[in-house]
Amino acid sequence: MYSETIHCSAIVLVKRYIRKGIPDEHRPHVWMMVSGAQAQMETNPGYYHSVLLEGQKNTKLVDAVVTDLNRTFPDNVKFRKNASPCLQLTLHNVLVAYGQHNKTVGYCQGMNFITGILILVTKDEEKAFWLLDALLGRILPDYYSPEMMGLKTDQEVLGVLVKMKIPAVAELIDRHDVMWTLLVSRWFICLFIDVLPIETVLRIWDCLFYEGSKILFRVALTLIKQYQAYILEAKNFPDVCDKFKDITKGKFVTECHLFMQVQ
Ligand SMILES: *[C@@H]1O[C@H](CO)[C@@H](O)[C@H](O)[C@H]1NC(C)=O
Ligand SMILES: *[C@@H]1O[C@H](CO)[C@@H](O)[C@H](O)[C@H]1NC(C)=O
Repeated sequence: MYSETIHCSAIVLVKRYIRKGIPDEHRPHVWMMVSGAQAQMETNPGYYHSVLLEGQKNTKLVDAVVTDLNRTFPDNVKFRKNASPCLQLTLHNVLVAYGQHNKTVGYCQGMNFITGILILVTKDEEKAFWLLDALLGRILPDYYSPEMMGLKTDQEVLGVLVKMKIPAVAELIDRHDVMWTLLVSRWFICLFIDVLPIETVLRIWDCLFYEGSKILFRVALTLIKQYQAYILEAKNFPDVCDKFKDITKGKFVTECHLFMQVQ
């Protein structure tokens, strides 16, 4: 009952915050509350450490995780091998524990970036694990499972929405025979990390934890609509791909305050 009360007051707070952005110092707490990660952590004490221990014996899993460690945020000094505290080790642990916890998902590329952000925000290994569990197990089911059905479905849904709402762009993509997933898969797989500026990504994730995957569609549609005229200048297949890369780099997306207001 106790955590129920906290949960409700967090929801009220979040409603207020979402428009203006959750202040950085409250972000870990709010994410934990609204995603149900806090409740999971409290009802499963010791669980994280036990799956971590088991996972460390799973050499196939550990090898898969280790391969990507050096490629995760190489420009961020906190993720260097000799950093102190060494976030690379934290990242290793969370990914190994998660792969053991959810054997259907195991480890796949993209999860390293998502986990890296969770670690940077929470600065807490166990909380990062439970947030990852909320995200991959409940908020974005089947995005990372072997067939990636959830991911594929959502990409197709976005395609349908673009046809309805921004038909000229859909027509252009059809005309140049560009595979839709080629243009947007990175947006969905990395949840806009390394696609949009980090401040904007965090604002998007505030909504993602609170209201689920529909925010990914809203962001994608906003981007495409905002840059419709620019995209429509594309003359051929590579042009279309380039334009879709360019639109995530404009002034519009760095001014995240404005960007989130048009959502
Ligand atoms: C990662 O980088 C470190 C030092 O830069 C190196 O010693 C290690 O072999 C690398 N690991 C992999 C799996 O590439
Ligand atoms: C594992 O992930 C799959 C796919 O996202 C999800 O459907 C399932 O509920 C998860 N299982 C656990 C134990 O978290």
